[in-house]
Amino acid sequence: MKERILVTGSYGQIGTELTLQLRQIHGANNVIATDITPAPEALEQTGPTRYLDVTDPRQVTALVVENKITTIYHLAAILSGNGELNPQQCWNVNMNGLYNILETARRWKVRQVITPSSIAAFGPDTPKEHTPIDTILRPTTMYGITKVAGELLNEYYNQKYGVDARSLRFPGIVSHETEPGGGTTDYAVDVYVKAVAGEPYDCFVTENTTLPFLYMPDALNALLELAAADESKLIHRTFNITGFSASAGEIANSVKARIPSFECRFIPDFRQIIAESWPRSIDDQDARQEWGWKPSFNLDAMSDDMISKLKEKNGAVA
Ligand SMILES: NC(=O)c1ccc[n+]([C@@H]2O[C@H](COP(=O)([O-])OP(=O)(O)OC[C@H]3O[C@@H](n4cnc5c(N)ncnc54)[C@H](O)[C@@H]3O)[C@@H](O)[C@H]2O)c1
Repeated sequence: MKERILVTGSYGQIGTELTLQLRQIHGANNVIATDITPAPEALEQTGPTRYLDVTDPRQVTALVVENKITTIYHLAAILSGNGELNPQQCWNVNMNGLYNILETARRWKVRQVITPSSIAAFGPDTPKEHTPIDTILRPTTMYGITKVAGELLNEYYNQKYGVDARSLRFPGIVSHETEPGGGTTDYAVDVYVKAVAGEPYDCFVTENTTLPFLYMPDALNALLELAAADESKLIHRTFNITGFSASAGEIANSVKARIPSFECRFIPDFRQIIAESWPRSIDDQDARQEWGWKPSFNLDAMSDDMISKLKEKNGAVA
């Protein structure tokens, strides 16, 4: 069956790269990139782009019906850092947006809905090491609250209405293509950007703050592989996944090993408390067993690739 794909929040850190990859797989005209900001050139020049505010149910339904959408990658969201600065907006976009997507999927028989969740679904009472899927979910951020509620809403629409809703709890995503959108792990991107630009960096968490991470090529594979997974083999609807865990100091040292002149200071701000409420490492064995999840990048492989891609990009600009 020909797929007709809608990506929401398409111009963000994950959406920009995911949309380009989906266009290569399914054909440019079958992947509609949507967001509420002006489209980046890379997406505007390679296929259809539309304005879509996911908090408006009429806009969501009109776009899905007019374009005969079969699959939705729902990425529109307000992330953890920005969510704490504006919790009301975070609730509105993350919860009402997801509700509008799932309701439209139910009413118009959209075949599949893929929505990222986050390690922010966990909280300070969650076991910190090798955190399993089924554990204490008592987040202390509005973002985390919307992620837990969103996971449950996805599962409800699957069980009650048969919507093929699937979700992944992403750890911090590191990438070089599009700037991160206001999350607690943005420092793990900024550190590379500053180092390659020849500038020092003030990291907003302490040196020993350890979190799980995933490099973007692995994150994109995870979304595509989960979408393609044989439904009869899925026991869960929400999965833990991870690439590797590293402290902010270890990431900075990995950069310094490749760019010896790089200097990093650690000056924690309000995001330190958010980072401390999340697990240090994740158990992703269910994803491995149910749909063959396996990451390719560890910290050093990621550092090599990030630095070489950012150097290429800076060279192209210069
Ligand atoms: N990047 C990470 O490290 C990370 C980690 C865990 C989970 N996630 C999840 O992955 C998904 C995508 O994250 P991202 O990093 O690409 O985020 P991002 O902030 O880079 O992009 C989100 C996009 O949503 C758009 N948006 C905001 N309000 C909207 C609205 N009302 N209607 C339509 N679009 C709207 C923004 O303009 C932005 O382009 C989110 O669900 C996020 O929670 C990301």
